[in-house]
Amino acid sequence: MRIGLLTGGGDCPGLNAVIRAVVRKGVDEHGDELLGFADGWRGVLEDSFRPLSLDSTRGILPRGGTILGSSRTNPYKREDGLGRVQETFARNRLDGLIAIGGEDTLGVANRLHRDGLPVLGVPKTIDNDLGATDVTFGFDTALQVATEAIDRLHTTAESHNRILVVEVMGRSAGWIALHSGIAGGADVILIPELPFDIDEVCRLIRRRHERGRYFSIVVAAEGAAPKEGTIAVGGGGVDEFGHPRLGGIGQVLEREIEMRTGYETRATVLGHIQRGGTPTAFDRVLATRLGLAAIDGAHDGAWGMMTALRSTEIELVALASAVAEVRRVPVEEYRRYRVLFG
Ligand code: F6P
Repeated sequence: MRIGLLTGGGDCPGLNAVIRAVVRKGVDEHGDELLGFADGWRGVLEDSFRPLSLDSTRGILPRGGTILGSSRTNPYKREDGLGRVQETFARNRLDGLIAIGGEDTLGVANRLHRDGLPVLGVPKTIDNDLGATDVTFGFDTALQVATEAIDRLHTTAESHNRILVVEVMGRSAGWIALHSGIAGGADVILIPELPFDIDEVCRLIRRRHERGRYFSIVVAAEGAAPKEGTIAVGGGGVDEFGHPRLGGIGQVLEREIEMRTGYETRATVLGHIQRGGTPTAFDRVLATRLGLAAIDGAHDGAWGMMTALRSTEIELVALASAVAEVRRVPVEEYRRYRVLFG
């Protein structure tokens, strides 16, 4: 078979492990020819690709990022996008395409499949917010990075009697914030799923002081927001998929906490550090399993499907169910941990 491969959306540790697994099994076991499209859907629109071989994918397993490049291009937002994608399929005699991506990339994959193209998805995102799979690769690595940062911030917060606010990624889901906050023993965790009350945040910090702990760690998801009408936060632009550019809640909290409590407060924004660098062993193994299942799925004609981790098994699920809604932290789960705050 002639199969295209692309990585779209925000990059994520483990993408190269998927590419390697697809190529290894595709070439060695199925005798496939693999075409790696550049920068997500942009490469398909512009017919920009390079052949992927055992040689060109050697040594990439532990490397972060993606050797194919990535972008947030949406073909359905470009003039004659569908027609251009169809032309690329026809010109290169593609039997199918494996799209590795999150909600947006897989949303396009699902739409292309509905428009008659043979596309199969592999889920990825550090945000862990995709439905129909128990966990996405990249999340474990981001979690490790954020937890290590919190551990480091603890010692300096304690030395200087400061309140340190850590802003982590996750878009509209609080998985990275909640899990890194729990793993790092944060004193306050703020997630997008539940608007926060700034007075309650300050109360928890003051209570620690009364108990003789003169420093605190506040972990805030970038999508965390105050209860309506309490404090003002600014807004940014949107990308081709209509997602707002997040960030800035850390600085807002720094200002508000210091002003309201009188305790010195500083913010750290972890940003893209969470997405860069080598994947953890867990993410490498998961990405490899998903890649092996994807190339087998292509040979079984599982178009319109996505590989997914269900319990301990890799299964194929409908792309449509994976992109139907964002998987967010259940508020009851978050509340269960509140006893550890302050
Ligand atoms: O979806 C992954 C993610 O890292 C989000 O957590 C974050 O909001 C977004 O991508 C940042 O995107 P960009 O790298 O385009 O600024």
